[in-house]
Amino acid sequence: MNRYHDLIEAACRARQNSHSPYSGFRVGAALLGRSGTVYLGTNVENASFGLSNCAERTAIFRAVTDGETEFEAIAVCADGETPTPPCGACRQVLMEFGPEMVVMTAGEKGADGPCTENTVADLLPQAFRDFRPSKGTS
Ligand code: THU
Repeated sequence: MNRYHDLIEAACRARQNSHSPYSGFRVGAALLGRSGTVYLGTNVENASFGLSNCAERTAIFRAVTDGETEFEAIAVCADGETPTPPCGACRQVLMEFGPEMVVMTAGEKGADGPCTENTVADLLPQAFRDFRPSKGTS
């Protein structure tokens, strides 16, 4: 069984709460914090399309709001038979919290259907990080 089976299934359940009347494309995310807590997210669209928020970022913002900033993995479950990779904006936001975070993706069949496993670093090579000299990265 997939080691992130339960996390993927949680993402699929979160997808049921998607507010996506404009795209009709439902996405759910489940983010596993180092504490063991799981934070759910879904895509929340708006009549002003550009204000829409992706499932992955919803989950990250919930977790940070609750005081957790270290994560083991995120699972993303979207409509469609094949898994949907996170968008570029979400990759950048995930990178903020660690290149080693595991990113699982699944389609509407969830953990029993096709899944992918990558790290954030796999998905966003040569990423922009905090390059300020005071952070010791120069
Ligand atoms: N979407 C996500 O929630 N996550 C992604 O990584 C890609 C796109 C959402 C945004 C929008 O509500 C819908 O999918 C169609 O783009």
